[in-house]
Amino acid sequence: MIHLRNIHKSFGSLEVLKGIDLDIAAGEVVSIVGPSGAGKTTLLQIMGTLDKADTGSIVINGSDVTRLSQKALARFRGEQIGFVFQFHQLLPEFTALENIMMPALIAGRSHRESRRRAEELLAFMNLSDRADHKPAELSGGEKQRIAVARALVNKPAVVLADEPSGSLDSANKAELHRLFFDLRDSLGQTFVIVTHDEGLAAQTDRTIHLRDGLVVSQSAGAPSPEPLTSPLPEPEVPSLEDTDAPMPEPPATEPLPDLAPEPDTPSPTDTAKTYLA
Ligand SMILES: Nc1ncnc2c1ncn2[C@@H]1O[C@H](COP(=O)(O)OP(=O)(O)OP(=O)(O)O)[C@@H](O)[C@H]1O
Ligand SMILES: [Mg+2]
Repeated sequence: MIHLRNIHKSFGSLEVLKGIDLDIAAGEVVSIVGPSGAGKTTLLQIMGTLDKADTGSIVINGSDVTRLSQKALARFRGEQIGFVFQFHQLLPEFTALENIMMPALIAGRSHRESRRRAEELLAFMNLSDRADHKPAELSGGEKQRIAVARALVNKPAVVLADEPSGSLDSANKAELHRLFFDLRDSLGQTFVIVTHDEGLAAQTDRTIHLRDGLVVSQSAGAPSPEPLTSPLPEPEVPSLEDTDAPMPEPPATEPLPDLAPEPDTPSPTDTAKTYLA
């Protein structure tokens, strides 16, 4: 389903990914773990076509995404990939139902069809009675489940999640994790989940250990071979050799957009308003 070959990525003089090879099968639930700064988010963003690798090839569901034009890529992303972020990134002015509908409307589906799918997902998440709540009127766990529903509304082949349970308490965390496996079992989606949660990593089919921009090991359904002493690892202290190195360039990319629109689109809220108008 996902095939990465020799992925390299640098930000200025900082080499973040140093040659990643990875094959993920359809229907697999894979976790990516590793210390802070190892390159997990960078890898996920490249996998999700939100960022470009400097070199290497990425084939997702049979398409070589490195060869797609910007426009084709935006469409591919909208149809094939669902994103779930640590802080849900729901649009505050819109209801739960509207937030879930949004990617479907952006993909060009009718209002009726988008609504039907969103209502189906709300029912699946046991949140039908929260359809008209705005994000501020939802609990943390509910917001995160709405964000998962939003990621699924276009029935993407792949769901990429970056620390999806990072902001949740243990009960909501457990519920969200159960949801991922229920979804895989009922809809057959492929999940790639970046996590610091050893419990979640241990439940997944395979855990990929990333360190310093390289895959250092992979384990099948097993806990991390190098257990973290705290849930959030300490930032890595640069070695003395690094002190003369130039500072890395400031981020060249825009902050992650809520709904991953094309780079030249207006704010997600403005975009959303035009779709719901
Ligand atoms: N746009 C950018 N410009 C410059 N440096 C960046 C940029 N994005 C990430 N980096 C650097 O690349 C390295 C890897 O970042 P990344 O976000 O992939 O780490 P991570 O493994 O997700 O860490 P965490 O567990 O803390 O989320 C870090 O040292 C970070 O400072
Ligand atoms: Mg990260």
